[in-house]
Amino acid sequence: MDQLLITGGQPLNGSIHIAGAKNATLPELCAALLTAQPVTLENVPALQDVRTMLKLIASMGVHVQDDVASSNALTLHAGGLDKTEAHYDLVKTMRASILVLGPLLARFGKARVSLPGGCAIGSRPVDQHIKGLEAMGAVIEVAHGYIEASLPVGQTRLTGAHITTDMVTVTGTENLMMAAALADGVTVLDNAAQEPEITDLAEMLIKMGARIEGHGTSRIRIEGVASLNGCSHAVVADRIETGTFLCAVAVAGGDVHLHNARAGHLDAVIDKLREAGVSVESTETGLHVKSAGASSLKAQSFRTTEYPGFPTDMQAQFMALNVVAPGSSTVVETIFENRYMHVQEMQRLGARITVEGKTAVIDGGATLSGAHVMATDLRASASLVIAALVADGETTVERVYHLDRGYDRMEVKLQSLGAHIQRVSAKPN
Ligand code: EPZ
Repeated sequence: MDQLLITGGQPLNGSIHIAGAKNATLPELCAALLTAQPVTLENVPALQDVRTMLKLIASMGVHVQDDVASSNALTLHAGGLDKTEAHYDLVKTMRASILVLGPLLARFGKARVSLPGGCAIGSRPVDQHIKGLEAMGAVIEVAHGYIEASLPVGQTRLTGAHITTDMVTVTGTENLMMAAALADGVTVLDNAAQEPEITDLAEMLIKMGARIEGHGTSRIRIEGVASLNGCSHAVVADRIETGTFLCAVAVAGGDVHLHNARAGHLDAVIDKLREAGVSVESTETGLHVKSAGASSLKAQSFRTTEYPGFPTDMQAQFMALNVVAPGSSTVVETIFENRYMHVQEMQRLGARITVEGKTAVIDGGATLSGAHVMATDLRASASLVIAALVADGETTVERVYHLDRGYDRMEVKLQSLGAHIQRVSAKPN
């Protein structure tokens, strides 16, 4: 398993490109299942989770073509799709595999998808996905670890319905929106997620001929159509990669331009960074971030909530800032029940954090010292890299495969900005 070796103390200067959003790419790859025509996605990030999803849809018979013209473009042909099953072996490694359920049911009237199971940050059930599809007429049985979905005898399509999910669910909204696009009649999704990735998916579906309005608000209305066409769509920039690099520059100090970053998708985080003393300005082509380093900052309390609030996917990274910025702060994680796995590892670096239930209290201004730490989940691993950038001496981050799921060669981008970071392949012990 690869490790990252990081020697702290270097400021970050220069310019990097922000890749396409992982959490938009994953549903948009599944949207290709809704049509027999070719779908081209551009600005596709080179991530492990993207490779996993491509493997999953290819296992169903989707033809995947890497466009020679541009290394970040893919063309998907689901005309020859001959399997409507998502096998446990692939689904167990990535929860987002559940996103094939809605499209398969909508286009083929049946699907057999392994239950995703929990992950490091929480149980993460999919009951709302199932509830919504049943409201649209699907017959769903959960047995032997699989979701078996079909349509009632004699019915060839899902039927539009008015669905209010019990809580805001990002992939739940995406699954139901994709299913509704080919349903018979109108579907209204209330309590819908409003993340920019939902809006980006809706814009892609509209290019395919779907009739959708209200995306980006808590009520989305979808009028089903008989079939959908192919399209070409550029994936929206990754707001979480953007936020991660903003936090890295904030704590390390420096002057960096994030090309392709979209300010409007990260207001809650940018507001907190400005309150902390970081300069973040929009430019013609992205965001310009400047910081005098950790000791110049002021720790900021925050609580994670659904979009447009402070995103849970930025909680660990901003906590790394609060650990080294002078001042005490509290962080409340309201979305997932176990998203403080990074705390123990940060304490090994010298962080002063206590956790009580959903609340973490941070006594900031710590001087961190390099140590061996272990990544436990995607965003936790990013927060350890950020902390290591300002720790005295060398830090070794183990289990870097967590980082590779959602960041496109983070160490290469950080090296290009002046960080002392390198990837080593650990000898199997
Ligand atoms: C998406 O996960 C993202 N993943 C997550 O990003 C992100 O943290 C999360 O939304 C919240 O913003 C993708 O988009 C691929 P939810 P998702 O359904 O859809 C509960 C990352 O780091 N819930 O919005 O799985 C659930 O347990 C990843 O990039 C149910 O109870 O999250 C959670 O407490 C991590 N039943 C809350 O709702 C359901 O049927 C929000 O979950 C669905 C969800």
